[in-house]
Amino acid sequence: MDLATLHETATALVAPGKGILAADESSGTIKKRFDSINVESTEDNRRAYRDLLFTAPGAEEHISGVILFDETIRQSGLDGTPFPKLLAGRGIIPGIKVDTGAKPLAGAEGETVTEGLDGLRERLAEYSELGARFAKWRATYTITDALPSQYCIDANAHALARYAALCQEANIVPIVEPEVLMEGGHTIDRSNDVTAAAQEALFHALFEQRCALEGLLLKPNMVLSGYECKQQAPDTEVAEKTVRCFARTVPAAVPGIVFLSGGQSDEQATSRLNEMNQLGSHPWQLSFSYGRALQAPALKAWKGDAANVGAAQQAFVHRANLNGAARSGSYTAAMEKAA
Ligand code: 13P
Repeated sequence: MDLATLHETATALVAPGKGILAADESSGTIKKRFDSINVESTEDNRRAYRDLLFTAPGAEEHISGVILFDETIRQSGLDGTPFPKLLAGRGIIPGIKVDTGAKPLAGAEGETVTEGLDGLRERLAEYSELGARFAKWRATYTITDALPSQYCIDANAHALARYAALCQEANIVPIVEPEVLMEGGHTIDRSNDVTAAAQEALFHALFEQRCALEGLLLKPNMVLSGYECKQQAPDTEVAEKTVRCFARTVPAAVPGIVFLSGGQSDEQATSRLNEMNQLGSHPWQLSFSYGRALQAPALKAWKGDAANVGAAQQAFVHRANLNGAARSGSYTAAMEKAA
């Protein structure tokens, strides 16, 4: 493990004003996104869509890295340049999703454990050859009155740490993603308790498995009211509770916390990140690694039609700019309207 290289990559991913584009939708998820705009999920369409995101003029000002899916890291853009090379040429760091998905956890009705450890050392070596410098692994936790179980939290923490240790061995920065889902009627305080428990188990496992915190990034949910909760916490409360939760559970040696958007609207995801950064300086960088909250307007503008590529790129870069501003707490709602 070369900790200096890992730390340098992790720090570059959370450079001031910058954050990560998650474009690592699996085949099933990208089909769902394309269904929403009535576009068939063919390999050519997926390539054309990713190409428009990765070549969007000006995106590199606020996008530090892109998480790719296995198919995408092997594809070339419309000009024939392999995607990882195309991104690196623009100063954007290529990354790769390496988990193989959340599967039912044996003996735990309604809960999942994320798989993908078998053969991971060899896969990481290949991804490194293909240009990947960081990776992602996502675990999910469902909230009900009884869930998540400690068993589910521990099984996922153990797998996340095993993945992280293998990444660091290969000099690939692991992004560890324990996602507490928004589905359900739970309160923000219940989300806080479950998020804290997931973080606590995760950092314990990372310590046990000898991972270097200076060479990884955390990708968590924000602390939020469940979708169906009648009392929806305002952005200021989300920001305060999220920052307090992580201050208690995430060591200062971690260079950055890069939030997922997880079903928040584009504007909520930006505004809440902005509120957090307005709360002053924190031990870690607070940034974004958004999928839907960066892509939704671009997807809608594109509609699968090459004639709309320019408009879709503008929509994507606009969101990247707004989230870039949220990195320093300088976003305002009025900026939403600027073309
Ligand atoms: P969302 O921002 O759409 O939640 O996606 C981020 C991600 O990478 C989930 O694993």
